Amino acid sequence: MTRILFVCLGNICRSPAAEGVMRALAPDWHIDSAGTGDWHVGEPPYGPMQQAARARGYDLGSLRARQFTRADFGLWDRIVVMDGSNLANVERLRPPGDGTEVVLMTDFAPETGMSEVPDPYYTRDFDGALDLIEAAARGILARTG
Ligand code: 4NP
Repeated sequence: MTRILFVCLGNICRSPAAEGVMRALAPDWHIDSAGTGDWHVGEPPYGPMQQAARARGYDLGSLRARQFTRADFGLWDRIVVMDGSNLANVERLRPPGDGTEVVLMTDFAPETGMSEVPDPYYTRDFDGALDLIEAAARGILARTG
């Protein structure tokens, strides 16, 4: 069974949205999300993100933020990050010798021309983030055996 962890900064906007979208596309996979920061640990996804997701049929209401830890390496086939800052923060915690694949979400949606998923907590473009996340999740599904 495929095991995928989505990672962003706060774990209240982009990565929980990616978790919800990917769960809908691949209900049999083992999917989770986490943030590199700890500010929102224990909180549900940000209200405006939940609303935008719900409008597309994704219920994020039961998700709770947690922080990414070194122990996540080894638990996942693939760790998918939302931007270059997430990538650096995750790589900083990689245990020596660990070979887990860490990749950018946008690598799975080359047709969008985007190199990261902009943070809607700051851009306020929740639908734009969801468009990109949906495209990349479809790409992950298409490229995962
Ligand atoms: P996310 O967005 O990384 O997509 O969950 C953020 C939400 C909150 C904060 C940062 C990013 N924050 O610093 O509070």
